Amino acid sequence: MKKVIAIYPGSFDPLTNGHLDLIERGSKIFDELIVAILRNPEKQSLFSLAERKQMMAAMTERWDNVQVDTFGGLMVDYAIGMKASAVLRGIRAISDYEYELQMALMNRKLAPHLETVFMMPAEAYSYLSSRLVREIAQLGGNIRGLVPELVERRLREKMDPAPKYANLAVFRKSRTKKQ
Ligand code: PNS
Repeated sequence: MKKVIAIYPGSFDPLTNGHLDLIERGSKIFDELIVAILRNPEKQSLFSLAERKQMMAAMTERWDNVQVDTFGGLMVDYAIGMKASAVLRGIRAISDYEYELQMALMNRKLAPHLETVFMMPAEAYSYLSSRLVREIAQLGGNIRGLVPELVERRLREKMDPAPKYANLAVFRKSRTKKQ
């Protein structure tokens, strides 16, 4: 029987619980799901590509049929190269629809055999976006429950790198005293 491989493309800057909810749903209906993180040197991101990939890999290792990869260039070219027949995208609200419809139809024009499949995340995540998570974290707000704990920790380190370097400061201080 033919295996159905799907690509779940996105920026994932950072990944949220909404993305994980969708990945879990996708992993149940596709034989293989490849989470493909966009490599876009023109767009400034909060987390580097390597950081995003590492966090995504850690948070998806519980699903055997989910892999994490990065891609550049046209998504359809990447999908063809991976022998995928479907693209998974999440739709939260009507406001997502216009952009997603335009992208799905353009992708269909470029690669007619590639089917875009839309899924809805759990209601609890219907208002959640990476952009809002970044903004709230940057302004010192509480993002608990919106992103996995690992991402929450990494966001805190990005916003306030002091704790990470606290030990280094103590070390330097003790060396200065000795000299
Ligand atoms: O998480 P995002 O930023 O909404 O994801 C957008 C993404 C990565 C799916 C889209 O920008 C994309 O596919 N970019 C790759 C370039 C491409 O194929 N552009 C043509 C889209 S019709």
